[in-house]
Amino acid sequence: MKKNPIPFACGLFVASVLSVPAQLPPPNYDEAKVPTYTLPDPLVCADGTPVTNPNIWQKKRRPELLRLFEEQVYGRAPRPPHALTRYEVRSVVTNALGGQATRKEISILLSGTAAGPRIELLLYVPNHSPKAAPVFLGLNFNGNHAVTTERDVRLSDRWMVSERSSCIVSNRATEACRGIEASRWQIEKLVARGYALATFNYGDVEADFATGWKLGVRAALSSAGTNTTFKPDEWGAISAWAWGLSRALDYLETDAAVDAKRVAVIGHSRLGKTALWAGARDERFAIVISNDSGEGGAALARRRFGERTANLNKAFPHWFCGNFKQYSEHEDAMPVDQHELIALLAPRPVYVASAEEDQWADPRGEFLAAKAAEPAYELFGKAGLGVAEPPAVNKSVGAFIGYHVRSGKHDVTEYDWEQYLNFADRHFKPGK
Ligand code: GCU
Repeated sequence: MKKNPIPFACGLFVASVLSVPAQLPPPNYDEAKVPTYTLPDPLVCADGTPVTNPNIWQKKRRPELLRLFEEQVYGRAPRPPHALTRYEVRSVVTNALGGQATRKEISILLSGTAAGPRIELLLYVPNHSPKAAPVFLGLNFNGNHAVTTERDVRLSDRWMVSERSSCIVSNRATEACRGIEASRWQIEKLVARGYALATFNYGDVEADFATGWKLGVRAALSSAGTNTTFKPDEWGAISAWAWGLSRALDYLETDAAVDAKRVAVIGHSRLGKTALWAGARDERFAIVISNDSGEGGAALARRRFGERTANLNKAFPHWFCGNFKQYSEHEDAMPVDQHELIALLAPRPVYVASAEEDQWADPRGEFLAAKAAEPAYELFGKAGLGVAEPPAVNKSVGAFIGYHVRSGKHDVTEYDWEQYLNFADRHFKPGK
């Protein structure tokens, strides 16, 4: 199995790896060196009360766990500026994708004006859908113009990570970036199977670098603006991106072409961490899909396999909240582990996907977290993975917790989408 200590986001992300100080121990890729660890029990409350039914879970344990993830891991997000927010439909094309879909571009003006923070949502809705279509909603890495080759989708003007692709010049996209992320979205396939796709660039919410928050909602929505000092339990970038996904869902609730009660939130890698957190904090998301989310996402921190908490904190200090820093190399001191993030999604369907060569993201640790979330699903009488050990490569398992490990690298492929669509078909029944 190929070891991959060099993280890939969407193309190379070498710069951030090089910024990890040399004193960090090299990543462990040896199963025999995984230390013995004890996972916190999702079904025991802080005061020792056992969680024996959905009511105790929903009223007591779930809020308690959510608060721990908020305070210790991702950081608390503020309330949405609903009263101010305005939606502006910037374009409607009824014959997109050769007539298969209607495509809209919608500006979500969070504080009511184009000068304030805004999310540029791209929405494809199948034309043949008999009813409001179920939706896959996810953040994209490189702008809406990158998820499709359609030439009239607006080019994003946001700050972008230049190292990702030679088409990004001085941190800005160029025409040459059109379609570079298309294979990761498979829009034609989704639409053919009756699903809408809603996506926007994560840079609309916050630019992905240590002080990128100054260009995003974390500054724009704070009275201190770029002078804001964040408290240790206040939102990091992942929390801000997840908050943005909820704002996109607010819009979807107003659009009659889609069914906002059947929205699957999906994300890859750092945006998979984000999708999990978005699903945990906002119960309106009906399905949650984590694609290769790894450390700080679906993978168990206590295994210390591949990427570790310390790597996250060193290379991406802006992703998590201040309190998370204390767990660098002290994973056992965390009051939670990532199986409890998955448990927070119960009883909603969740799908966790790994890639065989993506050892940095710890595929086995992702499977084990999904497995350890099963008791929360059992409380609701919902079957989880249905297997005790990771399935063979390229075999999808699970009822309410889906899982596969795909052959190949850190990426989102057609194979991944086939599984997500099958999973969504089972739970959403499009066309009905
Ligand atoms: C790096 C990082 C991972 C992250 C990934 C990505 O590899 O270490 O935690 O998931 O980037 O977002 O592509």
